[in-house]
Amino acid sequence: MEQEKVIQIKDLKVYYKKNNSYLRGKNRHMVIKGISLDVYEGEILGIAGESGCGKSTLAKAIVGMNKEIDGEIIQKYSDAQMVFQDPYSSLNPKKKIGWLLKEPLKVDRYKKWTSEEMEQRAKEIMQAIGLPLELLDRYPSQLSGGQRQRVSIGVALMRSPKVLIADEPVSALDVTIQAQILELLRTLHKEMGITILFISHDLRVIYQLCDHVAVMNGGIIKEYGVPKEIYRRPKSEYTMELLKAAGIR
Ligand SMILES: Nc1ncnc2c1ncn2[C@@H]1O[C@H](COP(=O)(O)OP(=O)(O)OP(=O)(O)O)[C@@H](O)[C@H]1O
Ligand SMILES: [Mg+2]
Repeated sequence: MEQEKVIQIKDLKVYYKKNNSYLRGKNRHMVIKGISLDVYEGEILGIAGESGCGKSTLAKAIVGMNKEIDGEIIQKYSDAQMVFQDPYSSLNPKKKIGWLLKEPLKVDRYKKWTSEEMEQRAKEIMQAIGLPLELLDRYPSQLSGGQRQRVSIGVALMRSPKVLIADEPVSALDVTIQAQILELLRTLHKEMGITILFISHDLRVIYQLCDHVAVMNGGIIKEYGVPKEIYRRPKSEYTMELLKAAGIR
């Protein structure tokens, strides 16, 4: 059976404004320089590449946070949710965990949630992300880094999205906590059938987790395929260098 595509990216270009230019038309630079990529239903797609290559820019374009784009992004569902790299800054420090989890339900365009339903959903998600219910009453500063990243994932899952974009969700965490969060993503993927875009500069993690990987460099995709095959026989010089740097080859 042909697998369905949940996202089709066609010749995408993303621009950022240069703030110190007075010349109209020349006051922007291209960061994503023509990317075409398909994301298949139910897969975990890894996006790899060194710092500054445009991974976050690509992710933000998919969720509509980057407005200056050319090309096309066709989405089967329009509910992609993003988990950000830094669990410290992505959660409002003035709000309790329970409030943070319920927030996406209050702005749900498709359903009016009663407070009992919101409470119920928050509890369900706490269980899914492996946190005890008493944390609902705490502030983000009263949680560990790993717990906070679980909450960030929980917030993204509250409205049951079909697509989750995780932008370096473990790179701010220490190694044992990283492993736990990766295990959580794997479980959620299995149990909810959610499609995941997993952004990471860590090729080892991508190897363990992902069905496909796109290796980016300088705003384009250098190589795409099944991690095992790419790691065994990289086609591009650049991928080879990344593998060497990661100690894989
Ligand atoms: N808001 C912005 N305005 C202007 N330039 C930006 C902006 N955000 C990112 N850039 C530039 O775009 C390029 C790609 O940035 P991006 O954040 O997408 O990289 P990345 O691959 O996610 O890197 P990292 O691994 O460090 O997170 C970089 O050169 C960066 O300096
Ligand atoms: Mg980034």
